[in-house]
Amino acid sequence: MVLQLKKVFISDEVDPRCVEVLKENGIEVVKDTKLRTDKEKFLAEIAKYDGLIVRSATKVTADVINAATNLKIIGRAGTGVDNIDCDAATKRGIIVMNTPGGNTLSAAEHTCALICCLSRDIPNAVATMRDGKWDRKAFMGSELNGKTLAIIGLGRIGKEVALRMQSFGMTTIGYDPIIPGSVSSQFGVEWMELEQLWPKADYITVHTPLIPQTKNLLGETSFGKCKKGVKVVNCARGGIIDEVALLKALDDGQCGGAGLDVYVSEPPDDYNLAKHPKVIPTPHLGASTVEAQKRVAVEIAEQFVDVMNGKSLFGA
Ligand code: NAD
Ligand code: MLT
Repeated sequence: MVLQLKKVFISDEVDPRCVEVLKENGIEVVKDTKLRTDKEKFLAEIAKYDGLIVRSATKVTADVINAATNLKIIGRAGTGVDNIDCDAATKRGIIVMNTPGGNTLSAAEHTCALICCLSRDIPNAVATMRDGKWDRKAFMGSELNGKTLAIIGLGRIGKEVALRMQSFGMTTIGYDPIIPGSVSSQFGVEWMELEQLWPKADYITVHTPLIPQTKNLLGETSFGKCKKGVKVVNCARGGIIDEVALLKALDDGQCGGAGLDVYVSEPPDDYNLAKHPKVIPTPHLGASTVEAQKRVAVEIAEQFVDVMNGKSLFGA
């Protein structure tokens, strides 16, 4: 398939290399990260372009897609395409592509950082020092060495988290309906069904897409099957861990702490979870590194150029 792309609109903050690569290949580029906040103007403008590049802030809903009468391709500089109505795009014959591997390592490192922070309550300790207090007794941590980390979703990020946390001496177990045990054992993860996994885990980290099968995957029932004090991390998508059940489990001690990068609503509708003393919250920073942002920006631009040159389409 060969697409003629003359004009591309970029509506979110992406690394400048994206614009450069597109321009170097003869594509006219307009980048405006504010226009999307004025829906009427955005819908009128988008009709002029045959390509659109977004990160996660732009919601490419059916009305945007239907207004974009010349649009041929939507590029997501990142992994999740949950901010794009892919069904509406498909109905209009618009290609949707992402850059699935570009931020894997950054998201994996952020997950590992949250696990480490949870084990020693580092953010709360930092806060006391900033407050001018020297309170050593309040912060007795526990080693990661010898603990069991359960990884739900053994794709790109889940695998990289496993490899890194093994170096801390953690035993890694996991579940994924697609990745079999024969594959996960090659990167040191013992595959097991969720029912076996819940009672074994000291830490649980989720790395799945948010789909009906994974919504509230860790909820009241599954928390009840875990060890008391289990610590959890969600650097994937808000809603994989049930936020209401999590708050209750944190309050009654069933959950010993949570590292959260993603939320059902972003920004959250209320900050009850984020402000909980046992929660380490970050505002969706998993992919926010110089390296990952450069990678996804260049990859999406190169993928657009490939489509113009009739090379095979890429995405996941
Ligand atoms: P991936 O597609 O490589 O891996 C996802 C894995 O989840 C797959 O192996 C799939 O088989 C598995 N899975 C699907 N349904 C499952 C289920 N019911 N139970 C268990 N496993 C299931 O994706 P990835 O690149 O590793 O990304 C994982 C998640 O992280 C995605 O939700 C992505 O959007 C998110 N992400 C977040 C950030 C961030 O900034 N926080 C950055 C990058 C990616
Ligand atoms: C992704 O899906 O790529 C992440 O959530 C990070 C991002 O939106 O940049």
